[in-house]
Amino acid sequence: MKLFLDTADIEEIRTVARWGVLDGVTTNPTLYAKVGGSYESILTEICHITSGPVSAEVVAEDVEGMLKEGRAFAKLAPNIVVKVPMSETGLEAISRFADEGIKTNCTLIFSANQGLLAAKAGASLLSPFVGRLDDINQDGMDVIRELVSIVELHGIETEVLAASIRGPRDVTDAALAGAHVATLPFKVIQQMVRHPLTDKGIVQFQKDWAAARAAASGASA
Ligand code: E4P
Repeated sequence: MKLFLDTADIEEIRTVARWGVLDGVTTNPTLYAKVGGSYESILTEICHITSGPVSAEVVAEDVEGMLKEGRAFAKLAPNIVVKVPMSETGLEAISRFADEGIKTNCTLIFSANQGLLAAKAGASLLSPFVGRLDDINQDGMDVIRELVSIVELHGIETEVLAASIRGPRDVTDAALAGAHVATLPFKVIQQMVRHPLTDKGIVQFQKDWAAARAAASGASA
């Protein structure tokens, strides 16, 4: 499963890229609002850090507006993927982008049927929102499982991207459900690194190493 970072924060992206585990980045208007500045400059900078897919979201609500924004994003770098919200106009825009060879990520998917439609329209990434479904007492991971099964059963050329991930357990569950990609907030990827027994083990190894070295230098004196 590929791991994308769900952020517009350049320092977070640089950090995870240095760890060697960054496969791509997703942004959205809310994540962009947290950092501000020029969205285009941020996207260009992200595309310099990673050669993986970088999702840039359109905000227009009509097809021509979505196409205009998406085409402009696509010109910024070859790895830009235009993020389009699920809707009737969104599907039309996804289909038109596909005809133009522009890759899309259909966002705000909350059912397997929405994902199936987006895939048929030509989206290269399908983004079901796990956490937002969990928030309303539905099992978000069910949509991932259903959509992965549909895509594999029918040999559809697209990837299921588990979005709206809230914690490290979601990542394990998405991987077990067969998601092709999960996009994670920086905090979740940090939580994945840590384990209390790892921290405890490192402290113990340091302590034992220091004691052994002290004993060795005492013996040779
Ligand atoms: C990513 O593509 C989505 O926009 C993001 O994962 C949404 O996450 P949220 O539900 O935590 O806002």
